[in-house]
Amino acid sequence: MSYEENARIISDDIFDLVNACFDDERSGQNIEGRVNFFNTYNDYFVLTDDGSYSINSKEINHKIETLHTSTGAISESFEKFIKPMKFDYTNDIAVLDICAGLGYNTSAAISDFLEHGHTSNLKIDMVEISHATLACGLLVPSPIKAHDITKKAIENELIAQDYAALSLEECEIPENIDIDVYIEDARQTVQRLDDNSYDAIFLDPFSQNMAPELFSLEFFKEFKRVIKEDGIVATYTSAAPIRDAFIEADFYIGQGPIFGRKQGGTLASPNPSMLDTSLPKNDEIRIALSDVGIPFRDSNLNNSSEFILERRTEERHDARHNTKISSAVKTPIFLGSEMDDEKLKRRVERNLAKMNIPSTTSPEAFYIIECEKEYSKKQDGKNNSRNRILDMRERLKIVKSGNFPEN
Ligand SMILES: C[S@@+](CC[C@H](N)C(=O)[O-])C[C@H]1O[C@@H](n2cnc3c(N)ncnc32)[C@H](O)[C@@H]1O
Repeated sequence: MSYEENARIISDDIFDLVNACFDDERSGQNIEGRVNFFNTYNDYFVLTDDGSYSINSKEINHKIETLHTSTGAISESFEKFIKPMKFDYTNDIAVLDICAGLGYNTSAAISDFLEHGHTSNLKIDMVEISHATLACGLLVPSPIKAHDITKKAIENELIAQDYAALSLEECEIPENIDIDVYIEDARQTVQRLDDNSYDAIFLDPFSQNMAPELFSLEFFKEFKRVIKEDGIVATYTSAAPIRDAFIEADFYIGQGPIFGRKQGGTLASPNPSMLDTSLPKNDEIRIALSDVGIPFRDSNLNNSSEFILERRTEERHDARHNTKISSAVKTPIFLGSEMDDEKLKRRVERNLAKMNIPSTTSPEAFYIIECEKEYSKKQDGKNNSRNRILDMRERLKIVKSGNFPEN
């Protein structure tokens, strides 16, 4: 089975209907199919709170997700991917849109550019594994005007790849906007991209248990190679292994906007001054010290998601009580605190003892989290989440090795 078949991601019903619609279009049997599709099969689309449409995935690794948040699919694009960018529209801008889906993130970028970028050019590389999902982008009503431009670029590529046959999108792509659409596994695409070329990378896969391969350390190392020094990667997730993978790939990290979820997403940049807000303190401590921060690994960028998940589980198991504090009961967040709950305290201190930390208020405990005294929500080039995480990690190593400096 091809990778795309494995990763055919939208629910089987709509996948089959979309493919049949475009099969008919290619064979010249039904040129009206695309035009009528949305009205005929409206029930297969998911209306979100801002009036824009989404679709459901099929079951992957025992989970089904909708492609966008129910709070508002197109609003999510602006809030999570455009607002945190500090685009300087006096210069040309290049964006890499990974997991382009229906093209909403690209459309939000175009819309922002049309509003502010009067003298410059915009280049967007959209990467999406599934022809059928991009084709759904042609079938949904455009939530904003700029989506018509995106649709034209998608249609051009689907025709070039012989998936669509008709040129039905009437909107012209403006001369100062250049859109390339790559229909393949983003892990393959990214390896062919030039060094130091993007101002922004939008990373919008399904969640980590469905698509760990798109959050791996090795994938992020490719981002580090292709992003410009002042570029920003934005993703919606706050998950610890993803934040740690950015750090290990040599990025600075910060908290992204909160929208449709309890926690903010994640921003990463080679330049710390591009990131204003630190991660929450307890997130830093857990990522630095416990096995929850162990990243997904995908050595040659071609492993299956199941393999990547299993390997991480094994690595977490081996690291616990050895190089990392156990993440059970969120042990590391109690370092430096008095604990009233005796039962919890016993569990926490049992985990700490295995790392040569006698108690939550021992000198060793305070030594490890020393840098958190300087924590502030606003971060800068020196006082930031990355530096604190690396500092705590180093100190844990010293304590575990028995070389704790008594004074
Ligand atoms: C959450 S949706 C993205 C929604 C999209 N950003 C939008 O604006 O509509 C995740 C997308 O990732 C795509 N995908 C899954 N695996 C992929 C891979 N290995 N490479 C590229 N795209 C992938 C899926 O087909 C799906 O469209």
